[in-house]
Amino acid sequence: MKKSQLILSDSNLDFCPRLKTIIKNGQTIDGDGNIIQIRGMSTINNLQIIRRLIIDLCPKNTLEIGLAFGGSALAILSTLQEVHTKKDFLHTAIDPYQSTVWKNSAITVITQEQLDRNFRFFEEYSSLVLPRLILEHEKFGLVYIDGSHLFEDVFVDFYFVVQLLEMNGIVIFDDCRNNHVHKVVQFIKNNYSKILTSYPIYFPDKSFPKIIANKLGYKQVEIFCKIGENSRKWKDKLKKF
Ligand SMILES: C[S@@+](CC[C@H](N)C(=O)[O-])C[C@H]1O[C@@H](n2cnc3c(N)ncnc32)[C@H](O)[C@@H]1O
Repeated sequence: MKKSQLILSDSNLDFCPRLKTIIKNGQTIDGDGNIIQIRGMSTINNLQIIRRLIIDLCPKNTLEIGLAFGGSALAILSTLQEVHTKKDFLHTAIDPYQSTVWKNSAITVITQEQLDRNFRFFEEYSSLVLPRLILEHEKFGLVYIDGSHLFEDVFVDFYFVVQLLEMNGIVIFDDCRNNHVHKVVQFIKNNYSKILTSYPIYFPDKSFPKIIANKLGYKQVEIFCKIGENSRKWKDKLKKF
């Protein structure tokens, strides 16, 4: 498996000037054109990791759970547009609160950036959309899970996403230092190792608390690659996680 290399610099967001401006100003606009303050957007490190993976793997169908202000969606769509010059790609996002909590801010910037032609959005709970996509035989090469961070919701997202992943497809979990997400990641590592394997990415991060956290196994993002279909038997032992 190829190890992705990630070197950070200030110009890392040049690939999407709109995203760079939003992050620099800490502001975006809502569906009525009002300026609003951003919060809870994926870190620049996360956005860089997603971008690196898209450049390396060139997935045609991508999925994200948790759209919010559209930070990760802008990064994903801009990078997909760059690698698929024929524009034969589709990015799907799921978020039940886009119009209520996020005031249609993501939809607005994605449309203004003319990225909406290759974008599909479901304003519903991921737990309801994902099984529908399975029934419709959809497959994805890269999935970013950044929706509800409750253990049960992350677990349900993981459970369905594995079934939606193409073979050799990638799933990225955000906020893995969060106990809920960490627990799901540990379940995967201890019980799903024949189906998902950790995907290596070299990410130089020299801050002391992060070095300690990484050593303890709490990384900001965890990336897995699908290496097999689920062949677990109903009586298989549950390994501690
Ligand atoms: C941390 S934010 C996502 C940030 C976004 N990925 C970005 O980079 O800008 C988490 C999002 O998950 C959404 N969310 C919460 N519960 C959800 C659910 N059950 N299904 C899908 N999305 C959910 C929230 O509305 C919120 O927009």
